Amino acid sequence: MSAHWFTYETADLAAEACARQILLRLEEALSGHSMATLAVSGGSTPKLMFGHLARHRFEWDRVHLFWVDERMVPPASGESNYRLAEETFLKPAHFPHRNVHRIHGEMRPDAAAEHYTREIERVFDLEEGQVPRFDVVHLGMGADGHTASLFPGEPLIESKEGIVSAVLVEKLAKWRVTLLPAVLLKASHVVMLVAGADKADPLKQVTEGAYEPLRYPAQIIPHHARHVTWFVDKPAAMMTSVLT
Ligand code: 6PG
Repeated sequence: MSAHWFTYETADLAAEACARQILLRLEEALSGHSMATLAVSGGSTPKLMFGHLARHRFEWDRVHLFWVDERMVPPASGESNYRLAEETFLKPAHFPHRNVHRIHGEMRPDAAAEHYTREIERVFDLEEGQVPRFDVVHLGMGADGHTASLFPGEPLIESKEGIVSAVLVEKLAKWRVTLLPAVLLKASHVVMLVAGADKADPLKQVTEGAYEPLRYPAQIIPHHARHVTWFVDKPAAMMTSVLT
């Protein structure tokens, strides 16, 4: 397990550095394989990062793109993580459609989770029960310490197997589909992009607090991920000693 931390004056500088790291790690993966795999999160911060990814010329035809999680809405919905990426990254980067593996938010949650599991097994050529190793997984962190769609109190945060699950997010009273910890922790590289003063307290708890993953789900990353690099803006870093 190795961790690196980088703090930036602004969210956009953090997002730009995160985008560069993603490209670097994808480049590394492509030096040894014909294809690379990337899973991205949604929310608002990633919008900055997607813009930076789109501005770099890259061999996107050699990258399979997946999502860390998705809201149960149609792809055209303003809440869709897929739509956010489509508008700010896929379209401007001319990302090949055949390499895009979205979570079908328009389906019933359990059906969408099953469909996404089968898609991952097909692209990674997995046996039943095997867990994929993504080259890069991009994660954010919510002001409540959630990551992916693993929110405080979600018992799946302690699961050790499985690829995808539908989860009912009690606080939102909404269903989501999310990659499970086994996948997040197996990734060759995790990049964590965290920005905003509202993340300062949870970031301190996640990086320095007692290990309570049910309370702060994002803690599983610094505690158990193989390799994680944090890209944080100063407002989010202001309470965390390792980042200031
Ligand atoms: C989602 C995201 C979610 C996100 C955090 C942080 O679907 O909302 O996948 O896990 O990473 O909510 O979002 P921000 O970086 O926009 O605050």
